[in-house]
Amino acid sequence: MSSKQANSTAVNSFNTNHSEYDVFRPSFTPILVDPFLVHLGLATYEPQGYKFDTSKKILEIAAGTGKFTQNLVDSGWKDTLTVLEPSSGMLETFNKKFPQIKNQILGSSYDISLDDDSVDAVIIAQGFHWFADLESLKEIQRVLKPNGKLGLIWNFDYVSYSQDSVKDKKTEYYNAGSQYYKSLDFKVDNNKKVFEEYFNKQPWNEVVTQYFYGFDVDVPQYRQN
Ligand SMILES: C[S@@+](CC[C@H](N)C(=O)[O-])C[C@H]1O[C@@H](n2cnc3c(N)ncnc32)[C@H](O)[C@@H]1O
Repeated sequence: MSSKQANSTAVNSFNTNHSEYDVFRPSFTPILVDPFLVHLGLATYEPQGYKFDTSKKILEIAAGTGKFTQNLVDSGWKDTLTVLEPSSGMLETFNKKFPQIKNQILGSSYDISLDDDSVDAVIIAQGFHWFADLESLKEIQRVLKPNGKLGLIWNFDYVSYSQDSVKDKKTEYYNAGSQYYKSLDFKVDNNKKVFEEYFNKQPWNEVVTQYFYGFDVDVPQYRQN
């Protein structure tokens, strides 16, 4: 536990815009999330498809309105899932969407009201940039069982540079540097074509994106980490 508090800009802004957040922010494709869950020891890939081990206890920190939680719920998690979120507004929308998830904690990464060694995995989707510090990591380590896993995941905007290509700007599509992207099998060839032939050639895409990036000032931003 630490005396630090969640970033007040985060809590205040998410308290006021949680309904819009839920409508306009991206969700997470199972194509990427399912192998991510395998890496975290929460699923296995079987010949007939992914098999999810819902006996594994997950703590999702910064769950927000549950955009990532949707994937966990769709994969069968319920009572073994706990969500933690400092914005009461975000939790209000979360609760409307997932009343069946009873373990909802209003709190922050700095003081997680769970026992030591109590969860198999901690997942943070689109959120670690708000609290990427030693205090949070110590709390996360405290609640994780020995050999428990921490999984961090972000959705990148199409024109964002992926984390490993910030310097040389070699980005293609979304997060082209990720191991998951490289192993993706574009079964529907059209997806790739849409990226290559349409979005990549639309000047408005870059202009609009740069415009709204202009509002991203003085707060931690995953795009810049
Ligand atoms: C961009 S939202 C992501 C929400 C959701 N995981 C998603 O993927 O849509 C970031 C979330 O981090 C939460 N947050 C900010 N600081 C936090 C902290 N110190 N501990 C836990 N959550 C925090 C915010 O309240 C907000 O709901």
